[in-house]
Amino acid sequence: MRALIINCSPVKTGATAEIVNIVSEGLAHRYDSRSVCIADYSFSFCKGCRSCHTTAECVQHDDVDKLMNEFEQADVIVSVAPSYWADVPGQFKAFIDRFL
Ligand SMILES: Cc1cc2nc3c(=O)[nH]c(=O)nc-3n(C[C@H](O)[C@H](O)[C@H](O)COP(=O)(O)O)c2cc1C
Repeated sequence: MRALIINCSPVKTGATAEIVNIVSEGLAHRYDSRSVCIADYSFSFCKGCRSCHTTAECVQHDDVDKLMNEFEQADVIVSVAPSYWADVPGQFKAFIDRFL
């Protein structure tokens, strides 16, 4: 079983990264766990074209494709995000818009 832990902070080595490490260690006895950081991926905002509503695919092709591949290989996904003005960082929100 594979676990993917995603650091949704734009800071690769901050407090969120520490939590990612703790979660990874906690899952290590049950899962083949892998960690990624959203800051290592470059992608555009959703265009709102709604093509995906009929095709289930995005018209844009960038690093979201790589993250989608990581998600598809995982049995368990843990997203770890800091609070940015009582919400998730914009980078993660942009990914959610594209990913869904
Ligand atoms: C733009 C911005 C907005 C933030 N908004 C909040 C907030 O609303 N509430 C809160 O408790 N902390 C807030 N923080 C603090 C971060 O959530 C906190 O420092 C977090 O540990 C940062 O994670 P990082 O170490 O991965 O950068 C904010 C930080 C930034 C940079």
